[in-house]
Amino acid sequence: MVEKAKFIWFDGKFIPWEQAQVHVLTHTLHYGLGVFEGIRAYHCHDGRTAIFRLKEHIQRLYDSGHVMMIDIPFKKDEIEAACCEILRLNGQKEAYIRPLVFLGEGVMGLHPKGSPIQVAIISWVWGAYLGDEGLRRGIRVKTSSFTRHHVNIAMTKTKTVGNYVNSIMAKLEAVHAGYDEALLLDTAGYVCEASGENIFLVKDGILKTPPMTSILPGITRDCVITLAQDLGLTVKDERFSRDELYLADEVFLTGTAAEITPVRDVDGRKIGPGHPGPVTQQIQEVYFGVVKGQHERYQNWLTYI
Ligand SMILES: Cc1ncc(COP(=O)(O)O)c(C=O)c1O
Repeated sequence: MVEKAKFIWFDGKFIPWEQAQVHVLTHTLHYGLGVFEGIRAYHCHDGRTAIFRLKEHIQRLYDSGHVMMIDIPFKKDEIEAACCEILRLNGQKEAYIRPLVFLGEGVMGLHPKGSPIQVAIISWVWGAYLGDEGLRRGIRVKTSSFTRHHVNIAMTKTKTVGNYVNSIMAKLEAVHAGYDEALLLDTAGYVCEASGENIFLVKDGILKTPPMTSILPGITRDCVITLAQDLGLTVKDERFSRDELYLADEVFLTGTAAEITPVRDVDGRKIGPGHPGPVTQQIQEVYFGVVKGQHERYQNWLTYI
């Protein structure tokens, strides 16, 4: 259960948590057209709180809106300011922030014209998405029988509400089979992404991650590419098959919620020695330092509140 906080920002105002309600005729509830973001704020080493890559997340929210023809009725800097203020009002030093843009009550039918466009920003305390033990020891991943969206069926570069039914189907299947997370292949059969994370493999010291074609352009993915290159590692964004994954020395997932989660098993095949490898551990260590403001070089990724 989500741990209740005091306030939610709703259509421009901070209102008490319990009052952030919608009507059953809310268009997005029926048809799934809406866009959202997932952002983390960290309690930094100097005692301050910083939102990680806030501008990039808000830009992606507006990009999602643009693609889905949802004209967000606020300016980007108003949304950014509300993300900072909600943490102050809720007294949260560390939190997950969820801006959600949805079509409210008004019209029914598939053409959304006339639906009010509403925006909520919720913040709650959320620990390791795939578990603390998963972060430390690695998780088990199952290739899904559900294929990731075809690029001309859903807009894969957006965080569109309805896109996540595909993720949920894959996640349910993986958990039902006793795994922690689902890996989805693209429509050509190559490794694409996990239900809510991007994926990397490491082979002979080189990192590989699927290209942007049909994945969500993950902000954590972008961080990892930069951090790895700054560490002197080679990163290739090119497609690869599931057997290449089975044969990798290391595999890890990246996402705002999941952070850097090592994978120790894919479809019952042990990855490397079956525990997080040195490259994954190095990336994890740098990443957790960066988000907590320890590395001067990446200070521009942090918005202190
Ligand atoms: C489908 C999918 N892929 C990848 C990611 C990782 O993106 P990010 O690192 O920006 O959180 C997410 C999370 O938002 C996601 O939902």
